[in-house]
Amino acid sequence: MKVQIVDHPLAAARLTTMRDKTTDNARFRAALSDLTQMLVYEALAGAPTAPVPIETPLSAFDGTRLANPPLLVPVLRAGLGMVEQAHAMVPESHVGFVGVARDEDTAQPVPYLASLPDDLTGIPVFVLDPMLATGGSMLHTIDLLIAHKATDITAVCVVAAPEGVAALEASGHPVRLVVAAIDEGLNDAAYIVPGLGDAGDRQFGPR
Ligand code: URA
Repeated sequence: MKVQIVDHPLAAARLTTMRDKTTDNARFRAALSDLTQMLVYEALAGAPTAPVPIETPLSAFDGTRLANPPLLVPVLRAGLGMVEQAHAMVPESHVGFVGVARDEDTAQPVPYLASLPDDLTGIPVFVLDPMLATGGSMLHTIDLLIAHKATDITAVCVVAAPEGVAALEASGHPVRLVVAAIDEGLNDAAYIVPGLGDAGDRQFGPR
């Protein structure tokens, strides 16, 4: 599995804001939005382009566009804070939705929503979820996408635990990970350490 760590001073600064427990919900959402822009930008580096012949005010010019815009799939709740910025970066993208809650007693994923196009043949998919912890929600989402015939899947995450990266790797699924940081590991409650806490609560308040 290809793992791409977005190692940039601006990404590190936004992530520091997100990690800081004194950051309020509004500043957390703003930092997540900024960081999403950087993650999506990096995730699309090297993406195929298609020619667009245009005229500048001075001459003809062979321009380009993204050949194959990715389907954006935020994993609710926490991925919601990434989708607006990702969509602003690639306005021609379509958007699907997957909802997975976390059972706080077992840390197991509890799926409650899937809204995806039937046939994802040939369509790259960007799964947006800030936290790759155990990998349970991400693997559930990837299984759904594969059931819809996706073969080109990128997990766009803010922080990953080595356990989650290993779970994705072990799945053997066709997935690439773009992430700002890989942290130390999970605590007993399956939270990422040092992490940033509950990414849903930090954006939207506690449930
Ligand atoms: N989900 C979160 O929001 N935070 C974690 O640390 C782990 C899973």
